[in-house]
Amino acid sequence: MKEHVNYEDIFKRFNEQLPKGVFLNTSFEGEYNTMTIGWGLVGITWSKPVVCVAVRFSRHTYSLLEKSNKFTISIPKTGTLKKELGICGTKSGRDIDKFETCSFKKDKIIDKCDLHIECEVVQKTAMDKTALESSIKERFYGTDDYHMFYFGEIKDCYYTKEEK
Ligand SMILES: Cc1cc2nc3c(=O)[nH]c(=O)nc-3n(C[C@H](O)[C@H](O)[C@H](O)COP(=O)(O)O)c2cc1C
Repeated sequence: MKEHVNYEDIFKRFNEQLPKGVFLNTSFEGEYNTMTIGWGLVGITWSKPVVCVAVRFSRHTYSLLEKSNKFTISIPKTGTLKKELGICGTKSGRDIDKFETCSFKKDKIIDKCDLHIECEVVQKTAMDKTALESSIKERFYGTDDYHMFYFGEIKDCYYTKEEK
């Protein structure tokens, strides 16, 4: 069951859970993948409600997003799915089927989470390493694996209740 909410109502949950990890879900032509993210922004850009996510070029998620141009974020209930966030944050969809490993239903959302944000990419921007502050560069980009920033317009935002 879906209960739609305004994007203004998800700021707190999004920002509280983000450092612990949320799921960034992508799919293309029947292939489903998800990865844990800990960085992101939610707010207004181009007069639209937008989520910005940072995806390194090395991620399988990057390859899928380049093709699909849409993503969904699923936010776990506080304190849940820690093992799954660990798996999805360390294993690549190139090597394993994370939906099967974590017993998630194949869908654009993670059924075991209760809050979901559906987005369509309206802008993507590759990092300009020449414009990066040096301490950030040293700390996060020693291997030259930079991020693509995807700005996704929020198209839908809702809570789900598990069907009994
Ligand atoms: C807590 C946590 C937060 C993470 N945040 C990000 C992130 O914001 N961006 C990113 O590119 N990778 C992030 N990662 C790493 C990816 O989740 C990880 O490399 C994953 O295996 C990529 O999966 P994929 O190759 O199937 O896309 C994070 C990992 C953890 C554990």
